[in-house]
Amino acid sequence: MSVFDRKQTNQTNSQNSQEIYEFKISNGTILSIKQQNDSLNHGTTIWDSSIITAQFMQHFLRSSNNSLINKKCIELGSGCGLLGLVMCSMGLQTTLTDLECVVVNILQDNVKRNLWILNQHQQENNNSLLNAQVKILDWTVTKLQPPEFTPPYDYIVATDCIYSLDLINHFVRCINELSNEKSLIFCGLERRDPLVTETFVNACKGGFNVVKIPEKKLKKFIFKELDDDIGNINVEIYRLKKRK
Ligand SMILES: C[S@@+](CC[C@H](N)C(=O)[O-])C[C@H]1O[C@@H](n2cnc3c(N)ncnc32)[C@H](O)[C@@H]1O
Repeated sequence: MSVFDRKQTNQTNSQNSQEIYEFKISNGTILSIKQQNDSLNHGTTIWDSSIITAQFMQHFLRSSNNSLINKKCIELGSGCGLLGLVMCSMGLQTTLTDLECVVVNILQDNVKRNLWILNQHQQENNNSLLNAQVKILDWTVTKLQPPEFTPPYDYIVATDCIYSLDLINHFVRCINELSNEKSLIFCGLERRDPLVTETFVNACKGGFNVVKIPEKKLKKFIFKELDDDIGNINVEIYRLKKRK
């Protein structure tokens, strides 16, 4: 069983049992992310690596000296949208993407509702409004060109998208097309099959410098927000930067 309790509240509709996961972001606002845990698509569940990476990215962005003003972020394989929404909450102009069925079934609804929640908080505090978009992006077919996509993105994030050998080259081609040498790319993944992780890291090493965030650093960054023993989870985060 996961270390994370995702079943905060249950609602049912005629086809799927819908579960709401609540995630408190650093300004105190609570995101309310809908899942469909008994549906067949992976994208309708919030996976551990997205929770860990979302916590990590909040700390990373807060502690980095880089200005986030007018910076663009894209998330690949967003699923329910937690990580992309957290990136948006930090002030990044964020595009969340996934396959059409995930966009239609869950992602666009989650983004619309939570963008409203985030912007309520912004208005109450006289801050400028946040911006997030949802787009269909299939790593195997999409051409990542304007006007639909506007590379290079300053930040590219993805979690739990590396689980199948067949998809790795498509995924790496996408991050290559979406990035330049200045882009910061973060991929969170659950340690399952070492061959899949190794194949991904080697595929990335063809064009990117690859750094695995040390476990110690990960624990230090996120330990405060989690009640559970972080030692029990199986998540790794890789930071990639395109080579010149
Ligand atoms: C395990 S889920 C992870 C979802 C979310 N990032 C998370 O961590 O909670 C994998 C995601 O990759 C998406 N995906 C799988 N194949 C894809 C493809 N060819 N193009 C785009 N997205 C894809 C799935 O739809 C799904 O949302």
